[in-house]
Amino acid sequence: MPKTYVTRRVHFNAAHRLHNPQKSDEWNRETFGKCNLPNWHGHNYVVEVTVCGTPDTETGYVIDLGHLRKIIEEKILNVCDHRNLNLDVPFLRGIIPSTENLAIAFWQQLENTIPSGTLYAVKVFETERNMAEYRGE
Ligand code: NI
Repeated sequence: MPKTYVTRRVHFNAAHRLHNPQKSDEWNRETFGKCNLPNWHGHNYVVEVTVCGTPDTETGYVIDLGHLRKIIEEKILNVCDHRNLNLDVPFLRGIIPSTENLAIAFWQQLENTIPSGTLYAVKVFETERNMAEYRGE
C-alpha cells in the first residue's frame, strides 16, 4: 500500500536558557556561550510534526490535518507559547531546553494522542538554520 507523509507546521515564541546546574558557571558559559546568559533569551520556534500512513479509502487522508493541528495546539502550543521553557512548562522540568531535547519532549507529548505507529517525525527549528529532528528511536 502506498505510504505518504503529511506534515503540519506550527510556530510559537518562548524564552529559555541553556544551563546545566550540575556544572560550574564557568563550564556553562564556555559550553553554551550566549545561550547561557542568566536573564533568558527568546526564539521564534517552528515545529513540524509528520504523520505517515496509507491514505484512507473514504477520505484520502492519512490524518485530518485540522485534527492534527488541534492535538499540537493542546499538547504543545497552549503550554509553551509565550512561556519560559525552563520555568513554566511542566513536561520540560529538569530538562535542558536544547532543540534536541525539545524535539524528544514534544514527541513524547504527542505520541499517545496520534493513532499508534503513525507519528513519524518531530522537527524543531530554533532558528532558520538550526533544527533538530526526532523519530522516536
Ligand atoms: Ni537559545
